[in-house]
Amino acid sequence: MTQATDAPWWQDGIIYQIYPRSFQDSTGSGVGDLRGIIQRLDHVKDLGVDAIWISPIYPSPMKDAGYDISDYDGVEPIFGTLEDFEALARATGDRGLKLLLDFVPSHSSDQHPWFQAARSSRDDPKRDWYVWRDPGPDGGPPSNWIAEFGGSAWEWDDATGQYYLHIYMTEQPALNWRNPDLRAEMYDIMRRWFDRGVDGFRVDAVEHLAPDDQCRDNPPNPDWRFEQGPARSLFRKFSSHQPAGFDAVHEMRAVADEYPDRALVGEAYGTLDEVMLYYGKDLKGFHLPFNFYLIEAEWDLLAIADYIDTYEAALPEGGWPNWVMGNHDRDRVATRWGPDAARAAAMLLLTLRGTPTIYQGEELGMVNEAVPDHMIQDPWAINNPGTGLGRDPVRIPMPWDDSAGRGFTDGEPWLPLSTVPAANAQEDDPRSMLVLYRHLIWLRRQHATLRLGDYRRLHADAATLAYARGHGDEVLHVAINFTDRTQPLPCGGTPVFSTVPDRDLAEISELAPHEGLLLRA
Ligand code: GLC
Repeated sequence: MTQATDAPWWQDGIIYQIYPRSFQDSTGSGVGDLRGIIQRLDHVKDLGVDAIWISPIYPSPMKDAGYDISDYDGVEPIFGTLEDFEALARATGDRGLKLLLDFVPSHSSDQHPWFQAARSSRDDPKRDWYVWRDPGPDGGPPSNWIAEFGGSAWEWDDATGQYYLHIYMTEQPALNWRNPDLRAEMYDIMRRWFDRGVDGFRVDAVEHLAPDDQCRDNPPNPDWRFEQGPARSLFRKFSSHQPAGFDAVHEMRAVADEYPDRALVGEAYGTLDEVMLYYGKDLKGFHLPFNFYLIEAEWDLLAIADYIDTYEAALPEGGWPNWVMGNHDRDRVATRWGPDAARAAAMLLLTLRGTPTIYQGEELGMVNEAVPDHMIQDPWAINNPGTGLGRDPVRIPMPWDDSAGRGFTDGEPWLPLSTVPAANAQEDDPRSMLVLYRHLIWLRRQHATLRLGDYRRLHADAATLAYARGHGDEVLHVAINFTDRTQPLPCGGTPVFSTVPDRDLAEISELAPHEGLLLRA
């Protein structure tokens, strides 16, 4: 039983990201699909989360794994049909789960009929739905902007003699959010999905909406590191986080507010100040602008402890925090921080103040897997060969059992299979990551203090972090050991739960290596 509160679900609950291509294949195609998600919904329910966000399921040429949409209103045949979607919506509703889809407003596929029309002639009514410019003064691209997957963000269109903008692949032309008809259509698309019962959206790549109208050059970034990708070699001063983009976010929110109990989660990578702007004026922007700090951070205690305080202090009044540790674009936690730290990190994610988002497979301790050259799918990897860049290693299918396709598929999987223990084996193993996640989520459901209580730092040094969560009469302490050595207990209280298997709670006098400990104060 969950301890009840009046908080809306998106504050009280936990979001679980499903990457549909890699969740469950029900047809033998080797790619996951909607009926597959329905088959595995009990895994999600048993985990104890409250909402699922599904990465794009719309018709797509799949140049960027579905983030290149050719019809915003349909379902990609490889994933199923609209009837399958409706069945999924019923299945989530029956289990009391909220359902969020991915909304990709910044660009469509070049195969979208809008772009086909736009590139047919300069006079086409859809021309202005995309961003077209004449060459710059030197005859080259209109600005120095770099695409996120490498190369110029401008592509020359010979037929109509202008460049078009693409923030990602050339096959993902940027939509023009300065055009009122485009905006109105995008809002109607949101309404149509809300009418089908969707509880909200994760809004993709939103920092790119409505870049500078004059296309001024971005300044160089002297601190750029290769792993950040080519686009970050410039400060995205004129191409990202622009005022007209924030107006669009407010308008999206107004659309969501036409319906009861809906929520918008925004993906915008930026500085803390930039991310905070997405809460919007009077909190009328995104309910949850993703907080990606932990996805980018080192397992460095003092930096993390300081960031928690900085983030809490930066929140606008009434703004609700959130934490993300993994997604389909970034390295797996167990690969980044190591399998032992990943257990302590799970406690961090699930005991901080703010809505946690869990990427599928984190609850199984999934790791980045090697992907042989002939199986590479990700344009990021294809465009940067031999560099190690690419996101296929974090998109490996879920290992459900130990059959040939690991319970994911009867066919040839679209990516190599995982090497971690299967979900069904982990279920019966009290020391497994799955049992740890279930237990931590169960604790969060039991204690409104963990979901909604305030946060106070108790202690931080180079090795251990301790904080208090308080709500009503209850105070809980969390202590985390960031090292592989035993450390003194940094706070008081009676141990309630440890991330270290087989721990005798009555005997705890110090923190074991990489231990996360929950205590009642
Ligand atoms: C977001 C998605 C990523 C995609 C990109 C372009 O960052 O998470 O997977 O490639 O947007 O849509």
